[in-house]
Amino acid sequence: MTKSGTFIRTDELLDGTFGTARAHALEQQYGNGKLMRLLQVVGAGGPFRAVTPWELDDDQGKRVINASGYAALPFGDNPPELNAFVRRVLEDPQQMMFAQQSVSEWRAALEANLVNLLDRECQAGGDTTHHDSRVFFSNSGAEAIEAAIKFAQAARPRGRYVVNFTRAYHGKTLGALALTPNPSLQGPFRNILSPNVITLPFGDADAVERTVKRIGPDKIIAVILEPILGEAGVRLPPPGFLKRVGEVCRAHDVLVIADEIQTGLGRSGHWFESVAQGLVPDILTLAKPLGGGMVPVGATIVRHAIYKPLLGSLETVKRHSNTFGGNTLAMAVGLKSLEMLMDADMPARSRRLGAAGLQRLKAAQARHPELLEDVRGAGMLFAMNFRPLLALPFKLQADLISEATGMLALVAFYRSGVLMNFSLNAARTMRLTPAMNMPEETFGELFTRVERVTDAYPSSFKLVQRYGTPQMLGLLKAAFLED
Ligand SMILES: Cc1ncc(COP(=O)(O)O)c(C=O)c1O
Repeated sequence: MTKSGTFIRTDELLDGTFGTARAHALEQQYGNGKLMRLLQVVGAGGPFRAVTPWELDDDQGKRVINASGYAALPFGDNPPELNAFVRRVLEDPQQMMFAQQSVSEWRAALEANLVNLLDRECQAGGDTTHHDSRVFFSNSGAEAIEAAIKFAQAARPRGRYVVNFTRAYHGKTLGALALTPNPSLQGPFRNILSPNVITLPFGDADAVERTVKRIGPDKIIAVILEPILGEAGVRLPPPGFLKRVGEVCRAHDVLVIADEIQTGLGRSGHWFESVAQGLVPDILTLAKPLGGGMVPVGATIVRHAIYKPLLGSLETVKRHSNTFGGNTLAMAVGLKSLEMLMDADMPARSRRLGAAGLQRLKAAQARHPELLEDVRGAGMLFAMNFRPLLALPFKLQADLISEATGMLALVAFYRSGVLMNFSLNAARTMRLTPAMNMPEETFGELFTRVERVTDAYPSSFKLVQRYGTPQMLGLLKAAFLED
């Protein structure tokens, strides 16, 4: 343990003398120690080194393909092209890095590109409502959602309710959390979350229409939706749902916010999944891939008429802002990331590789329905839904069993050389979100490794066999024991 008061100098990290054991110890003492400990107990806690943008080495020298990254790594880790670009920007001593209270070329260019891209996609479907939209930048997905709620409420001053959907995930800040109907995440914060949220079944457009008519359109601040439920484990809506929600909302002049933080910019196989499915939202949020896996960037794109009430007059122009949103490094990386996505025609690549990957997952599920309850995918977003991997001793432990199942799956695939994502709203579902530019050979190898685990079930889940239910629960509890 570090002596308190000892300052750790940057040189120690740069020259490699700091050491991974020390990192483990300090993270446990000063950071989210429980999570780190749990990952360490199961042997997947890193720290990692990026050997290529798509492969990581852990501190034991084990090499894994990175299918994690929570959809925020469009080009993998440390992509050379983006790195070289950032170096070029930083080498220019005249760049003003913090251009908050002045015009910024980088910000202006990214604003224009984002609006033009959204407008182009909408116009392809005959809609021109985004030709003069505006962009507000922030530092995370959740913050982009907070901004979206404020734009909507300011534009609908008589509005009292936000309509959202079951199993949605919009972030963990208080406004976004109120729209994330997960009891374990909302738990102790209920008293300070807005109660004015009406949660409807995802996929039920009739329920939207009924609710709009029952509440009255002017009482609705907005309908907010993910075009595909990401954290619920890549759940696609029934065909026609998004289009119909758009039609109902347009007919009654109700605002729609599309949260494309996970799906957008190519991940689901389209620039904007909502627009591709025939729903032109009034407000659209982006984040994850816009930061190139390197810097946090959130963006809220808003139709001009809706932008104005919040920020469009002399009295209100300072009503919403943040200190670092739109800073030069974030905007430059955002602009370059968008350029790299465009140059590679990434949505098309994502669709093509995604279809091949999903086909392999479906075949694996057909061979092993006793392991895989379901598999789902859209572009380079994949999900595997596991059956409970431990017997239920009694019902109260269902949540723990699901958590343990997710953890066991993480371990089994990690041992086979694949790092996956948990799903915040679906404990028994693991997601694969490989870099959209992953070389085809690596992508193929990723699925070969996945098949190696599923085809060797149950012996590939040795931990389950070896430990059994009580021991596994003990392991989880041990990881969470108080120090
Ligand atoms: C659809 C969606 N909305 C919002 C968020 C929150 O983004 P952040 O974690 O950057 O706050 C996420 C993050 O997973 C997300 O998937």
